[in-house]
Amino acid sequence: MPDKNGFPHFMLKEIFEQPQGLRDTIMPRISVQEGDVHIASEVRIDRHELRALKRINIVASGTSRHAGLAGQYMFQDLAHVFADVDYASEFEYRNPPIGPEELAIVITQSGETADTMAAQRLARKKGSRSIAITNVVNSTVANEADGVLYTHAGPEISIASTKAFTAQMAVLFLVSMYLSQVREQLSRESSLRWIDELTALPEKTEATLRCADTCRELAQRYHRFEDFLFLGRAVHYPVAMDGALKLKEVSYVHAEGYPAGEAKHGPKAIIDEDLPVVMIATCDPNDEGSKVRFDKSLADLRAYKKQGAKIIALASEGDNQIAKLADHTIFIPQAPELLAPILEIVPLQLFAYYVAVAKGLDVDRPRNLVKAVTQE
Ligand code: F6R
Repeated sequence: MPDKNGFPHFMLKEIFEQPQGLRDTIMPRISVQEGDVHIASEVRIDRHELRALKRINIVASGTSRHAGLAGQYMFQDLAHVFADVDYASEFEYRNPPIGPEELAIVITQSGETADTMAAQRLARKKGSRSIAITNVVNSTVANEADGVLYTHAGPEISIASTKAFTAQMAVLFLVSMYLSQVREQLSRESSLRWIDELTALPEKTEATLRCADTCRELAQRYHRFEDFLFLGRAVHYPVAMDGALKLKEVSYVHAEGYPAGEAKHGPKAIIDEDLPVVMIATCDPNDEGSKVRFDKSLADLRAYKKQGAKIIALASEGDNQIAKLADHTIFIPQAPELLAPILEIVPLQLFAYYVAVAKGLDVDRPRNLVKAVTQE
């Protein structure tokens, strides 16, 4: 029988296990001295084939698909390979014109999600190679893939996925970096820099967890609101989607995740004092694109304040602009754009958890949901 190890719920225990899950997932696969990622024996696809790859098709469901969306930015930025992301349940309906020289990456915590299995089988039938990213050894998806990379997050008992999600993003980053190295697109200097960043990630996740009390206080203030809007740009948009999904599933609160720029094309109409906005407004000062996006997020926040919205913002440590605009600011340790999502999701998981607790709900077993959806 799994043990809660002193935590009141598995969800909270699993949120706090994320630093260890990341350490176990990342550290055995990298060499700090050489700056290399060692996953050839897990990828099990010839280097020639990886060099010839034309496209990556990521298929997954729910939270695993959100990891895939973050992975899309990683593959395109680091390995310069075009990456598409599909809902596994929709994959077959768009009759995907895929084939050899393409790679299907299938992400599933349980390894038994029926929609994801069906998408994997379709991709293989069309001649694509496949790599599974899963948390369960010898699961069906793992057994049917060419290559398997396990997330070493440990068993996830709570229905809401937390530690598997951050471990999935870490594996996706490792695969993008490996591809980039195989395709000779990453200098040794950049590799060493990324390896440093990866090594620092578990400790930064630990530091992020120190916002738990703030998240609990926020949940106490906000648990009676019926709707929330989560916004983020670029690689932060999948985090907004997952923050909203967590709130929906464990707290039964209606929440939408949206790309921040897209909010102007409709959702903005309903932003007012009854619709708190959760804005991911972190910034990597070493990244020009990130600075531009940050300025756009500042402008959005000003506009939503004028509309009366309550703003909960995630900002980078050291930032002194966001807190002046937002009603509440949670600070996240500095991290490069592609790795920041792994930290940013932590306060959003905690917020969803504490809202569910404040509402007296069965956090680990939300109504109408199961851990693995084994029927299409
Ligand atoms: C959300 C959640 C679900 C799963 C989805 C896919 O917290 O748990 O959205 O992510 O059902 O499950 P796996 O990853 O097992 O394929």
